[in-house]
Amino acid sequence: MPSPRILLVGCGKMGGALLRGWVGQGVAASGIVVVEPNPVSDLPAGIMQAKDAAAIPAGFQPDLILLAVKPQVMDAVAPAYARFAGPDTCFLSVAAGKTIATLQRLLGEAALIVRSIPNTPAAIAQGITACCAGPGIGAPQRSLCDQLLSAVGEVVWVDREELIDTATAVSGSGPAYVFLLTECLAAAGAKAGLPLDLATQLARATVAGAGALMRQSGEDAGQLRRNVTSPNGTTQAALDVLMAENGLAPLLERAVAAADKRSRELAG
Ligand SMILES: NC(=O)c1ccc[n+]([C@@H]2O[C@H](COP(=O)([O-])OP(=O)(O)OC[C@H]3O[C@@H](n4cnc5c(N)ncnc54)[C@H](OP(=O)(O)O)[C@@H]3O)[C@@H](O)[C@H]2O)c1
Repeated sequence: MPSPRILLVGCGKMGGALLRGWVGQGVAASGIVVVEPNPVSDLPAGIMQAKDAAAIPAGFQPDLILLAVKPQVMDAVAPAYARFAGPDTCFLSVAAGKTIATLQRLLGEAALIVRSIPNTPAAIAQGITACCAGPGIGAPQRSLCDQLLSAVGEVVWVDREELIDTATAVSGSGPAYVFLLTECLAAAGAKAGLPLDLATQLARATVAGAGALMRQSGEDAGQLRRNVTSPNGTTQAALDVLMAENGLAPLLERAVAAADKRSRELAG
């Protein structure tokens, strides 16, 4: 398969992670153009840079345009790329909250659009991206999105677009919940008497190790939890608190519902 021609609009944390993933996967740097208002200093060799849509080399016809700017600037940024809308170009958006209908309004009816939500472990190729295909998206566009997103982790597709908002609340924002859990575990350890730096080291290694164990093991999270829980033991004592009626489950339910709602609000 020939290397895809890609236009990356916004080379920040997420766009940059994907870009490094593609190059690492063998996508030809000479087929990639990056649009960023300010020069990016650490781009892989061979990638062309443009400061805006008008500066894209004439004749560059991308197979895929990755829209990786902040949702708040999408309405101002996207229309400059409407000239690429047509059967030969797929627009892949990673912007939280921006619906396919909104993007279609900005890019025109002819635009083929995939809406997706990745997460930050993409930076180490251990992310997960949920995608939803817009009207007219067929097997070739799906396969191109699969190829490019799998460079930074797993890829899943949902049929109903509103599930992207819910995926945003679970996996898109999810890494932040896990980091907060780590902070809270360290703080609780310090409050219980450990020196703060030791508590921080213990909490960090525990969360990282548990994540790695879960990734490598074939067992689901519930089984892994039961594996470390002896009846009447120390873990059981803590889980009695965490799994109480007002414990972690209803708290996370509220947190996910709040993020889901915010994602829908960002649609504008
Ligand atoms: N980070 C996450 O966890 C995460 C997860 C899922 C989805 N996303 C989505 O990914 C998108 C990017 O987020 P991010 O965290 O990567 O943000 P970011 O680091 O701020 O990246 C956005 C980049 O776009 C650039 N930019 C601004 N105006 C532009 C324009 N007119 N043309 C081209 N580039 C322009 C910004 O440059 P300046 O900094 O110079 O303005 C910045 O480098 C967002 O839509 C977000 O919803 C992020």
